[in-house]
Amino acid sequence: MSNSSEAELLHTFKGISFTIRSSPELLKSLDTFDAREDDVLLVSYPKSGTHWLAGVIRKLYNTQVTITSPIEFGDISRLEELNKLSSKRIIPTHLDYNMLPPNFKNKKCKMIYISRNPKDTAVSMFHYYRDNPNLPTVDTWTAFFDLFLKGNVVCGSWFDHFLSWEEHEGEKNILFLFYEDMKKDLPKVVKKISLFLSLNVSDNDIQDICKKSSFSEMKNDSEKENSDPSHTVCALTSNRKLIFRKGAVGDWKNYFTPKQNIRFQEIFNEKMKLSKM
Ligand code: A3P
Repeated sequence: MSNSSEAELLHTFKGISFTIRSSPELLKSLDTFDAREDDVLLVSYPKSGTHWLAGVIRKLYNTQVTITSPIEFGDISRLEELNKLSSKRIIPTHLDYNMLPPNFKNKKCKMIYISRNPKDTAVSMFHYYRDNPNLPTVDTWTAFFDLFLKGNVVCGSWFDHFLSWEEHEGEKNILFLFYEDMKKDLPKVVKKISLFLSLNVSDNDIQDICKKSSFSEMKNDSEKENSDPSHTVCALTSNRKLIFRKGAVGDWKNYFTPKQNIRFQEIFNEKMKLSKM
């Protein structure tokens, strides 16, 4: 658990909390980023299954592609680094739609947004806060629950993030995915991703990719690797071992009190009243 204070680890940009791993200079210059037509964005609110999705996508390509570290991770030199990459770029990000460099939108780059039941996301994030030295200390689940509902966590409010992207769900270059669907029928979702990315992948290969993308396989793989910034698709850590915790649907039931559940549901219903979710 981190002992550092919030002021040492976080800063605010356009009303949203970022860790100091995302420098203010980089965030300010994101609008100037030069996207390429064939860039693919992998978008998520933290703890929604980003690494799982990235693992699947890595296996889907048999040509040279680079899954970069998140676009908002690092200092100002980051954009130049990305510019220099000669291979096709798969670029992860936790940015909300409004903060996304406009060039990605203008060039209609393909974007995959993965979402997860926010109750499970909150529990997953609570553990992440506790184990990740880049995030401030949080003492109890109750304290974290309040922070999450108020949006006083890194990457801001889950609701605002989701709604900012959901508004664009109908656009042809944006694919919306749900963690729960991946748990229920991974081959179906992998097929959907391959069609969206215009990749020709056989059913046998899809079965093989699914086997290699199971929670246990991915957790084992992460334990074999050293921590390396190029091996994480989360701007909040370079340590892959922090990612694979439980990998379950419905873990929130082990944390939410009945009262917290009612409060969450009320806020969910209010914030999401215009959502199709
Ligand atoms: P839990 O903390 O609930 O276990 P992200 O990659 O966006 O940071 O999301 C991390 C969450 O996805 C963690 O949730 C992690 O265990 C889960 N996850 C990672 N790989 C997975 C897999 N192959 N299958 C199911 N869940 C996975």
